[in-house]
Amino acid sequence: MANHFRSTERQGSDGDGMRLVPPNEHIVNNVPDIEPVENADGAQASAAPEDAPEAVHVVTASEPADSTSEQHSHTSVFASLASDDAPVTPRTGTPTISCRNVSLIYPAQPNKPALDGVSLDIYPGEFVFIVGHSGSGKSSLLRLITCERRATSGQVLVAGQDLTKLKNSKVPYLRRQIGTVYQDFKLLPDKTVYENVAFALECIGKPRAVVNVQVPEVLRLVGLAEKQDNYPDQLSGGEQQRVSVARAMVNRPPLLICDEPTGNLDPAISLGIMKLLDRINREGTTVVMATHDREMVDSMRKRVIALEAGHVVRDQEKGGYGYYGAL
Ligand SMILES: Nc1ncnc2c1ncn2[C@@H]1O[C@H](COP(=O)(O)OP(=O)(O)OP(=O)(O)O)[C@@H](O)[C@H]1O
Ligand SMILES: [Mg+2]
Repeated sequence: MANHFRSTERQGSDGDGMRLVPPNEHIVNNVPDIEPVENADGAQASAAPEDAPEAVHVVTASEPADSTSEQHSHTSVFASLASDDAPVTPRTGTPTISCRNVSLIYPAQPNKPALDGVSLDIYPGEFVFIVGHSGSGKSSLLRLITCERRATSGQVLVAGQDLTKLKNSKVPYLRRQIGTVYQDFKLLPDKTVYENVAFALECIGKPRAVVNVQVPEVLRLVGLAEKQDNYPDQLSGGEQQRVSVARAMVNRPPLLICDEPTGNLDPAISLGIMKLLDRINREGTTVVMATHDREMVDSMRKRVIALEAGHVVRDQEKGGYGYYGAL
């Protein structure tokens, strides 16, 4: 499988060295089949990394339905997005994200690492849930990937590029390759839906002709073409979040980072957002999503990485949320 990032080609005028292959281009070669494929699980059964730290429970797809999750698939609104029969995304080529023994210590808490010895690989086209208690380090991990924070030790690589060595001046170019969606939609209140999304392209100097094509396209993708002239306060919470997904995707990044994107939404509205993210993923974009939504994680059967006190304690194909007590 070709890497969605190209580290040596098409550096273009951005000078970032990490140009993406726009989703339309990589769909053809990289989209995991969305039709069920028999025995796909078996083929993947030996794919667990051999050098996984002992403390991490790496669960392979060949193991029986895990005892760590509740089975909501029959009743959940998210059941329609279950990927039990879908093939596991092949883990080949350069990982989109690679963490090697990463620790993060915030200056305000020098004796309590937010992340401690985290190692993981996420490959192009994967959909990965990051779960764990409040304070377990989910957002901190995502902040390292977007280079909002630098690791205190260890290596964080995105598309093979070591972010721990990335110059500050190059960080904006990295960010152009990563769409981000947060719990609070972070929309500009005095701009319309169209203008909010267009602004993301204008900020990075895209010409008007590109804006005029890509904004309507992405608004159609998220089902908001009809509301392009509305202001955020004229939209429901779900619609506002769809605008923020559109804004994250308008530059066609190969990687989408979501930090509790459905945290403020009720289950029926969350379903709409998850359908959208699932579709974006099926079209080739790697999606990494931190969430507290047990029902969603249990139903969708995606890869689950669980954190506890800054450590990866579980990495499971088609996993469930697990038991973390009250969150
Ligand atoms: N800016 C900061 N300064 C100091 N400590 C921080 C900072 N941000 C997070 N922490 C600490 O780092 C640890 C991990 O926090 P993080 O926000 O990554 O957790 P989380 O899993 O995302 O939690 P939640 O589910 O509540 O969002 C916590 O102990 C937290 O208090
Ligand atoms: Mg968080």
